[in-house]
Parts: sequence; C-alpha cells; structure tokens
Amino acid sequence: MNGIFSKFTSPSDHLGIDIGTTSIKIAEVGLEKGVVTLKNYALFETLGHLERSNTALQTSTLKLFEDEIASYLRLIIRRAGFNAREAIVSIPAFQAFTTILDLPQMSQEDADRTIRFKAEQYIPLPINSVALDWVKVGEKLMDGIKTDQYFLISYPNEVIEHYKKIFNLVGLSLFSLELEGVSLARLLGSDQKPALIIDLGSRSTSLLAVKDGSLRLMSQTDYAGSSLTVSLASGLGINVRRAEDLKRQKGLSGLDNPADRELSTQMLPILSVILGEAKRLRERFESAYSLPIGQIILTGNGANLIGLEKYIGRELGLEVHRANPWQSIALREDLSPLSSELGASLSVALGLTAKYFK
Ligand SMILES: Nc1ncnc2c1ncn2[C@@H]1O[C@H](COP(=O)(O)OP(=O)(O)OP(=O)(O)O)[C@@H](O)[C@H]1O
Ligand SMILES: [Mg+2]
Repeated sequence: MNGIFSKFTSPSDHLGIDIGTTSIKIAEVGLEKGVVTLKNYALFETLGHLERSNTALQTSTLKLFEDEIASYLRLIIRRAGFNAREAIVSIPAFQAFTTILDLPQMSQEDADRTIRFKAEQYIPLPINSVALDWVKVGEKLMDGIKTDQYFLISYPNEVIEHYKKIFNLVGLSLFSLELEGVSLARLLGSDQKPALIIDLGSRSTSLLAVKDGSLRLMSQTDYAGSSLTVSLASGLGINVRRAEDLKRQKGLSGLDNPADRELSTQMLPILSVILGEAKRLRERFESAYSLPIGQIILTGNGANLIGLEKYIGRELGLEVHRANPWQSIALREDLSPLSSELGASLSVALGLTAKYFK
C-alpha cells in the first residue's frame, strides 16, 4: 500500500470518533495482515433535532451534553462490539479558532517561540485559556523577504476538558484530539491538485482548502443539511419529517425531471449560499498561494444528496468527487457495496486514525 499508510507507528487498533451535532460516527481501524483496514464501524444518528432544535449533541454550551454523549457512546460501543480502547476524537470547526501567520524565515525553535508570543494578538481569548497547535504550510515572498506561513489552531482549554470528561465517563483512553478539518485534509487532500473539501453536515457546512494533505484555509456556514430540510418543509407546506424523507429520496433529481422540479428547486437558495462561501474560499486560497484549486471533494452525510455532484460541478466549473478514503484504508469485502456512503460518513473518523498509521 502506498501513500500515507505505507508505514505504521502504532500497531494497535484505534477508534476514530466524530461527534457531530446530530450524529456520532466511529471507525475502528487497525492492521490486518499488515494492511491498514477498517475493522468495524458505527453510525448513530439522532432525528429528534428535526422537531426540537435543542436536541443537538454538540453546541457551544458544552456542559449540558457530557452525560448524554457519554451514555450514547457507551451504548454504541457495546452494540458495535469494538475492541480498541484508545480513542482519537475530532473537534468541530466551531469549537476552535484558526488563522494564518506569516513569519520571516528562521529556525524552527525561534519560530515556535515567536508564534507562541505572537498568538496573543490573533486569538480572541486570553492566551492562558487556550491550547495552541501550529503547522508550517508554505513559503511566500513578501516585499522581497522570504517568509514561512504557519497555520495556527487554538482550542479553548474548556473544550479539551469537555472531551476528557466524556471519555473518562465512558472508560476509554483519549489518545488525542484533532480539528476535524485537519483529519479530513490528511485523509482526502493529498492529491497533487489542491482541493476544496466541502463537509456538508447537519447544522453546519465546513469548507476546507487543502494542499499536500494539510489544511491551508477554512471557512464555515450554518447553512447545511438541516436548513435544506427546513426550506423544503416551509416551501412545500409539509412537516419536517416528511421533508427529510423527500430530501433523501429525491434530492436534486428534479433539476432534470419536471415532476420533481418544484421540490428540488426549493433547496437551491440554501445551496447557493454554501457555494458562495466555497467561491470566496477558492478566491482566498488562489490569491494566497498563487495556485488554482483543481477539484472539489464532497463529504459529510449531507453530501449524499442525489445530484449534488453534478450541480456543484456545473456551478463551480470544477471536477467534483465524493470522498474516497478507500484508496488508503482497506474496506472489508462484505462492506464494499456500501463504500460510497461509508466514505462520506466516516471520513472524519477515518482521518483521525490515519495519523497513527503513517
Ligand atoms: N441520503 C441523503 N440525502 C441527503 N441528505 C442526507 C442523506 N443522508 C443524510 N443526509 C443529511 O445529512 C445531514 C447529517 O450529516 P452528518 O451526519 O455529516 O452531520 P453531523 O456531522 O452530525 O453534523 P455537523 O457536521 O453539522 O456537526 C442531515 O442533515 C441529513 O439530513
Ligand atoms: Mg460532521
């Protein structure tokens, strides 16, 4: 096997855990005959949020949900029969703050010190209340001076404590935490062509500009899968459960089929906000890195919307692919009929574990 999984540093199985606003996705990954393999997985979705907006699993008020998430996790782990006891968890974009820093070229040691010192100017929270992480993402010539670009991520300590508490309650050892965009970039963004990854979730859509397997720029909008359902419900005068079913059954197929045109066109205003965000991020990336975005990669369960690839391809004039993590992680043969859907659902969870099989 080539690419990011050609070597491994940790032979034991790991759980990659992605706790979204309305779902929990877990991938158990380990070596099978020397090949990195998805050994087991679980997808858990709550539908209560469709009627009651206060039933999301993740919100910015962290405390409310620790016990609830822990009890869901316990149940899922028991049902799925996972064996691994070491977990890596993703942190959603809305719980982290990211920025790009340009520094004149200097030794790594000096750069580390400078970043820690400069971070204070960029982060909207007191520096002693956050954990910092950074990675060099490129070089640039500014006014004749060579500079290094760093991608800086800060997580409030409170967020880290929140996850530690949950995993203590569940009895799993929390091996590490990672921004979900970083995991997606590692897993899906190592192609030669820079890509824009669109992660269409329930309450938010994350947009990531990635190059060489690392995250370069990121943005986000609150327009996502739930907004599509709500706009269908109000446009067609139906309840949200019915709208959710119709969204999944018909998607955008009505754009090519007059019988369902009314249904599909109800969702276009929301999609055009998401694509507006994608266009802005593309422009920012192209001007910052002087390189064209060459492709769009769709992930998240919202990316299962029928006809979405074709629609986005037409609107943005770029090739569009659905996430395909199976180039780097083997899938059990009996699961191969599900490869496309599982790829979109599990990419964050798989990307988390990928780091440990480099
Ligand atoms: N077949 C389908 N067609 C269209 N949309 C779908 C389909 N299956 C699931 N969805 C939508 O996917 C969304 C959930 O996506 P996902 O599970 O990635 O969200 P999440 O990770 O929990 O949320 P977030 O990333 O916002 O925190 C829901 O809005 C759901 O309606
Ligand atoms: Mg998600």
